[in-house]
Amino acid sequence: MRPLFSSYSLPLLLLFISTFHTINANNLIHETCKKCSQKDPNLSYNFCVNSLQAAPKSQSVDDLRELGKISIKLIKQNVTNTRSHIKKLLGNKNSDSFIESCLSDCFDLYSDAVPTLSQALKDYKAKRYDDANIEVSSVLDASTTCEDGFEEKKGVVSPLTKRNNDTFQLSAIALSIVNMLN
Ligand SMILES: *[C@@H]1O[C@H](CO)[C@@H](O)[C@H](O)[C@H]1NC(C)=O
Ligand SMILES: *[C@@H]1O[C@H](CO)[C@@H](O)[C@H](O)[C@H]1NC(C)=O
Ligand SMILES: *[C@@H]1O[C@H](CO)[C@@H](O)[C@H](O)[C@H]1NC(C)=O
Repeated sequence: MRPLFSSYSLPLLLLFISTFHTINANNLIHETCKKCSQKDPNLSYNFCVNSLQAAPKSQSVDDLRELGKISIKLIKQNVTNTRSHIKKLLGNKNSDSFIESCLSDCFDLYSDAVPTLSQALKDYKAKRYDDANIEVSSVLDASTTCEDGFEEKKGVVSPLTKRNNDTFQLSAIALSIVNMLN
């Protein structure tokens, strides 16, 4: 009897299936980012697509719930990196006392954000979307509070603008997804 898939067609079939998955995943990402950026004018569609497509495992997601989990993990990774970065800046001890005190406030905000996101991920997985919403919102607020601190003194340039904006954007994406599911 002829085998259903020859040794030649099997790899081809697997390639086909994996390509199909990638197309599906990318469609989901584009659709989701379109909805998110339409609802929230502060959210960049391109940032959304680029960050979700670059995330580990995002090429094999096939539903919104899975994508939401990935988005929360992305924030956590971002926030953890930014916290370490601020710690390094604080160690420099060359900046003026105003900047030092802003950085110190940001360090506290980002330090709190790490466990908050672990909790958000737990709540999200357990479909406690209201709790996840509150937790992710607090991280979004932390990024703007950190950035606003530097603006209180004229002439001061925040060294964290890009990082705060990344955290803001990622949190807005996750919030949008949580609200779509809720
Ligand atoms: C967009 O950003 C501005 C400035 O930070 C803020 O005042 C406004 O509330 C934001 N809009 C939304 C929908 O989040
Ligand atoms: C934060 O996330 C964005 C989007 O995924 C990425 O481009 C950026 O490099 C990340 N930043 C840090 C500090 O991890
Ligand atoms: C935040 O990042 C987005 C996406 O990269 C960008 O479009 C937007 O202009 C940035 N906003 C600020 C205030 O830097």
